[in-house]
Amino acid sequence: MRIRNEDIDLLLSKLHIEDIVGEFVELKKTGANYKGLCPNPEHNDTNPSFIVNPNKNICHCFVCGFGGNPISFYSKYKKITFSEAAVELAQKYNISVKTIDSNFKQDAKYDRYYNIMEDAYEFYKNNIFENHSQPALEYLSKREMNPKIIRENGIGYAPTTGWGILNDYLLSMGYTKEELLELGLIRENDKGSYDFFRGRIIFPIYSTAGKVIAFGGRTIEIGENIPKYINSQDTPIFKKGKNLYGIERGNIIKKKKYAILMEGYMDVLSATIYGFDVAVAPLGTALTEEQAKLLKNYTSNVLISFDSDPPGQMATEKAGFILKNLGFIVRVIKFEGAKDPDEFLKLYGREAFLDVVRNSLEIYDFLYEYYAKDYDLSDHISKQNFVKKFKEFFKNVEDRLEKSLYIDKLSKSLGIDKNVLIEELVVSNAKDIKPFANEYKSEITNFNENKIVTKLEKETIVEILRDVNNYKYFKLKEIKGTLSKKIFYYLEDCNFNEPIKVCMDLKNLGDMSEEEEKILDEIICLSIDTVNNEKERTTKLADIFRAWVIEEIENYKKNITNLTDKVKIGRLEIEIIECNDFANMLNIYKKYEEIVFFHIS
Ligand code: GTP
Ligand code: MN
Repeated sequence: MRIRNEDIDLLLSKLHIEDIVGEFVELKKTGANYKGLCPNPEHNDTNPSFIVNPNKNICHCFVCGFGGNPISFYSKYKKITFSEAAVELAQKYNISVKTIDSNFKQDAKYDRYYNIMEDAYEFYKNNIFENHSQPALEYLSKREMNPKIIRENGIGYAPTTGWGILNDYLLSMGYTKEELLELGLIRENDKGSYDFFRGRIIFPIYSTAGKVIAFGGRTIEIGENIPKYINSQDTPIFKKGKNLYGIERGNIIKKKKYAILMEGYMDVLSATIYGFDVAVAPLGTALTEEQAKLLKNYTSNVLISFDSDPPGQMATEKAGFILKNLGFIVRVIKFEGAKDPDEFLKLYGREAFLDVVRNSLEIYDFLYEYYAKDYDLSDHISKQNFVKKFKEFFKNVEDRLEKSLYIDKLSKSLGIDKNVLIEELVVSNAKDIKPFANEYKSEITNFNENKIVTKLEKETIVEILRDVNNYKYFKLKEIKGTLSKKIFYYLEDCNFNEPIKVCMDLKNLGDMSEEEEKILDEIICLSIDTVNNEKERTTKLADIFRAWVIEEIENYKKNITNLTDKVKIGRLEIEIIECNDFANMLNIYKKYEEIVFFHIS
């Protein structure tokens, strides 16, 4: 028996390191952590050097390095494999996790769900041509859908001849009530079970693999209290916010290299009928990031064609941000004389739609027009506010070149200096996005003499203890905290031993207040957290370095009067703020050092 990798995290979240270790080691609480004698039989600890950190859910001996998370500690201590330790702990602490064996059962269960949905779909499809479904056919014909189109597009109907005809049908096929409930096909009240979809045109919702996983149902009655559309609830095989209606044609989207994003079922259906077989729609909600990511698997080009009313425009703006953030090229279709693409296609036909596709606007131009409606651009104040409207957009444009092209364009249309726009829309945004640097600033400004360590110093020391080679990046930084000063003083002469040795030396530095010692313990604990991967570490290092540099630059900027230098430094600041790659950041920093050097000399 083995536990799936995905479930290891779950198991870890339920195991408490202090319980696991506490069974074998006598622990004493010190601040947020516990301390005890190292349980490694090869260590023979006499002076408690084993720290247990419940926050990080890890333990570590800073003398011999023994420790780990609950499972890895247990496996090392018991001298069994990681898998064995996981299973043993799951049983011991009565935590239910799926094992690989029971996973096969899981797959079989899912196959059955798909079969049920397929059978339900057949039922709906067959029903539309029954005698009792005349009203449905009449309704569809009003919407220009003849039997041929209905058949070709697999439109179904859930009749009203009884309360549970689908229920009865599926039960007679051997499926259980529980399964039908779980798939949202039926509901239950005190009178019993009844079909969820009744008196509705049924649209199948497919998975990317082309399996029916849910339904959308449109009422054919015009009633005040009846919702126009209902969707299947979320089920084990369907998550509304993660699926797109029409995504089963993903391979066509891939081949044609673009998708059209529409609002509703009817829009997508009409688009398909009129030969635009690349249309998809979020399922009755605003586009979610997950849906956009799903689409990204097929194409990076999206044409948004939402309803032409104000809510449609607003939805276009929001969807545009989500798509831009994921690096899509986004265009927006605009038309007049129809409320949605469905109506437009039926009124004006395919050629007219091709025209509006050709005349579609790049998302930036759409937003310019959209925002401009509310502002008088001949008025200064109004113009300023208009510029601010673009903040959100620039936040979501990832590509530097693209961003600079948009700045160019905006600068030309408004007659505002590019650098000013960069400051307003790029720099200030970057500071919002990367709050890391800002977070420390207030602390630095309000610095108090007796502070033991600042937040930034703490994070920095953690990274140095994790890898002593990191010291070189920070050795010239201005250190303020009392504990940080002691540590940096020690690091200056230390021979860059193993991190563990450095930690040990630090513990024996002496001359420390109780408070300082407590914080040092905490820092050591943070530094031995092994959970993060290499990439996260480099990002973290870049974040920390950026925070230091920004502080440095801001201080330096106060002292320069020369405008050219000011602009140069300003540019470097933007580069640093926007840079996510640590190696690049070091290069940019070199340029800054050169400027500072020439300025001083
Ligand atoms: P038709 O009136 O049939 O043309 O609908 P439509 O496809 O043009 O839909 P509309 O623009 O009214 O709404 C867009 C989409 O929002 C629909 O396709 C549905 O997915 C969803 N929707 C609309 N009304 C409702 C409702 O009452 N309940 C729910 N859950 N979703 C709805
Ligand atoms: Mn419509």
